[in-house]
Amino acid sequence: MNETFEVSPAGDGGPARFAVPDHSRAPIAGPASKASVMTGTRSGSEWLARYSTSLMGVFGTPQRVLVRGAGCLVWDADGKEYLDLLGGIAVNALGHANPFVTSVISSQLATLGHVSNFFTSPTQIALAEKLLALSNAPAGSKVFFTNSGTEANEAAFKLARRNSGGGETKRTKIIALEGAFHGRTMGALALTAKEAYRAPFEPLPGGVVHIPFGDTEALKAAVDETVAAVFLEPIQGEAGVRPLPPGYLKAARELTARTGALLILDEVQTGIGRTGKWLASEDAGIMPDAVTLAKGLGGGFPIGALVTFGEGTSSLLSAGQHGTTFGGNPVATAAALATLHAIESQDVLANVASVGEHLRSALAAIPGVIDVRGEGLLIGFDLDADVAPAVVQAGLDAGFIVNSPGPRTIRLAPPLVLTSAQADTFLAAFPAILQAAKDAQ
Ligand SMILES: Cc1ncc(COP(=O)(O)O)c(C=O)c1O
Repeated sequence: MNETFEVSPAGDGGPARFAVPDHSRAPIAGPASKASVMTGTRSGSEWLARYSTSLMGVFGTPQRVLVRGAGCLVWDADGKEYLDLLGGIAVNALGHANPFVTSVISSQLATLGHVSNFFTSPTQIALAEKLLALSNAPAGSKVFFTNSGTEANEAAFKLARRNSGGGETKRTKIIALEGAFHGRTMGALALTAKEAYRAPFEPLPGGVVHIPFGDTEALKAAVDETVAAVFLEPIQGEAGVRPLPPGYLKAARELTARTGALLILDEVQTGIGRTGKWLASEDAGIMPDAVTLAKGLGGGFPIGALVTFGEGTSSLLSAGQHGTTFGGNPVATAAALATLHAIESQDVLANVASVGEHLRSALAAIPGVIDVRGEGLLIGFDLDADVAPAVVQAGLDAGFIVNSPGPRTIRLAPPLVLTSAQADTFLAAFPAILQAAKDAQ
């Protein structure tokens, strides 16, 4: 039965334009459609006591125990409601529990949940084609699916190693920027600049050189025939939402093209509509050699991707040189297709641009807020005092989830469907939140 199956829950703006196999012959497990995992009912503090004795302490103490979400709202174990202005750190593109994405995931899981990479599936192929189309990739371009951002960069790191040239001027160096964050696995960690993340795990894979952020002269001096790749985030998210200066990506493209280095853009945080465009790098008018994606791609379901541009770069990794058990799994790729479809069909990119602009201009007018940065709904701003962690706490008390990537920096990366009215509730509350943070110091 190869009939197509279209998912069109009420209100999503029409049926999906991708097809997944008809699963009418798949066994349906009983009438109960609302099964759930039973964990018992506990207060937030009881859960946190259990957390501290059962989970590794790498994340510190969680701020709250979240039990439910709907759109841009989440609720904690004690029943308190929050406007989620962080969206799982730029992940929940369509908010929480989006009915369309949920429905597509459920259908796919009930049809075909996982296949090994000895096989493929229609959703995997359809998503690869869709990503190539969205990134304007030329013929010969390819996709490798992963489960996270760090794995996408790990694949990109291996791609860079395969660009060694082999000749007398063997390309062994990789250039990354000061302030860069590319992930926590060993290759991605080697690309990440922060000493505190790197030092405990040395030796890291060698050859990575970090150069000053956004400094075209430093880039010119660094990129020569010994460089295999340059890794750049169009906007450094973890460094406090720091955009590359205008012209930098173009200069990087010209320099790398001249010397044979790959230009690899990490759009794990900035991609999939976060900045109001599919890719933050679109405006630079360049074609990179590779782009890494994750976070927003699955709308909350774990998936990442390495997209390679053109035949040459796309054939650097050959059969057997890389792989993953779960990458490109039918459920993850269906979730991503559903997310991309919803973003397109509901004109979400226009919403990102307008609500982002509204937030940035209104934030800039609030006393105590300085230097508002970012694009679309990836927003960073500094405060006039080192109170950002206290602002996060005061925000929670007031019912808002925000993040502090630095002592005086706040980051917002809300669902891309945040409304202007929801943004206004935060803008109205922020002066009091800031004051409460200062009072608590
Ligand atoms: C730019 C960038 N690259 C890579 C990563 C790592 O992604 P993940 O946490 O999914 O491994 C992140 C995560 O914050 C990121 O912001």
